[in-house]
Amino acid sequence: MVERSFVNCPFNQYSFMFHSKIAGIGKYVPKNVVTNHDLQKYMDTNDEWIQERTGIQQRRFADRVGETTTTMGVEAAKIAIERAGTTAAEIDFIVFATLSPDYYFPGCGVLVQRALKMKEIGALDVRNQCSGFLYALSVADQFIKTGMYRNILVIGSEKHSFGLDMSTRGRNISVIFGDGAGAVVLQPTIEEEQGILSTHLHSDGNHAEILAMYNPGTHGNHWTEKKLADFNEAEISDMFMSHSMIEKGQNFPYMDGPAVFKTAVVKFPEVVMEALNQHGLKPSDIDLLVPHQANLRISQFIQQHLGLGKEKIYNNIQKYGNTTAASIPIALCEAWEENRIKKGDLVCLAAFGSGFTWASALIRW
Ligand code: ACO
Repeated sequence: MVERSFVNCPFNQYSFMFHSKIAGIGKYVPKNVVTNHDLQKYMDTNDEWIQERTGIQQRRFADRVGETTTTMGVEAAKIAIERAGTTAAEIDFIVFATLSPDYYFPGCGVLVQRALKMKEIGALDVRNQCSGFLYALSVADQFIKTGMYRNILVIGSEKHSFGLDMSTRGRNISVIFGDGAGAVVLQPTIEEEQGILSTHLHSDGNHAEILAMYNPGTHGNHWTEKKLADFNEAEISDMFMSHSMIEKGQNFPYMDGPAVFKTAVVKFPEVVMEALNQHGLKPSDIDLLVPHQANLRISQFIQQHLGLGKEKIYNNIQKYGNTTAASIPIALCEAWEENRIKKGDLVCLAAFGSGFTWASALIRW
């Protein structure tokens, strides 16, 4: 019998490839519930507008101090690791997806490695916003398939509440975001029909600035098309972060919501169909579609466009808002905990967001 040593083995050592399967899944949401009515204390908004345009009723906000993107990721990871029947010491690699890291650098992956007292394993941070978890899952899937690693921790976590413009100026974006974390442990399986069947990743950077946080950054305002000669000395020395950037709210996310919406409703079904077509499958073969929770109206559009029954799509944006890189693993975990996913089910994950980036994954559970 072949002695299987997964770690650091070249991919051509075996005549077969492993599939990766989700061996364990966990989620963590902060205890602090913030309703739409609560937001009215800070900005000119109302429950009716938010529910009608987004479906969101409430979201969770992390504690201002003590609870971070990393600590929430760690809590979700502990559950995923236990459910995978392994230990933190057995994890070979970490992939961490977030747009709201504890620090500008280093990334959150190393902070997880430290917090869970793991071996000196590799830790990679992924910055693909709403598609971040699917990009992270895809990277981990490749490492499992080649036989390089056998226990990979993939985390999506966000602490949006710390970086939102809570005044009326930021209301079109601040009302949609919430905090939370989800995590999975990927392990190899040699069962042909089980695990991640394929992942599909896309980007179109032409729209980078319509959903972005501009500062701090190293772009030096090049996207404004202003010439260097048009800047005064003080502006040049303050290009990374200045009072004027803060006054203009450029340290908060900016989004042209309607433009993002229009592209999202095209790209979501497209990337789901791409995944199905690769395997000769149809929308009716999907047992559960778990889309990134961006807006309930977007999810309902995808459901109708693909001709899926309501029971075939999972939505929990009503409770948690848009938690960006965390939204898919939180929703997947909750669906699994509610027995909405059984062994053998075909589960499709799909995301679209800032970049633009979009992605899907097809999984036989
Ligand atoms: N409360 C009350 N009124 C508001 C609010 C609010 N919170 N926000 C905006 N409005 C007002 C606007 O000022 C505007 O008023 P006006 O007509 O008098 O000018 C009106 O409501 C309509 O504003 P729109 O921005 O056109 O509203 P829309 O119907 O497009 O909904 C939303 C906004 C919910 C953001 C929607 O555009 C959307 O969901 N877009 C896609 C979001 C998405 O998918 N993002 C990707 C993931 S996020 C990521 O990647 C980080």
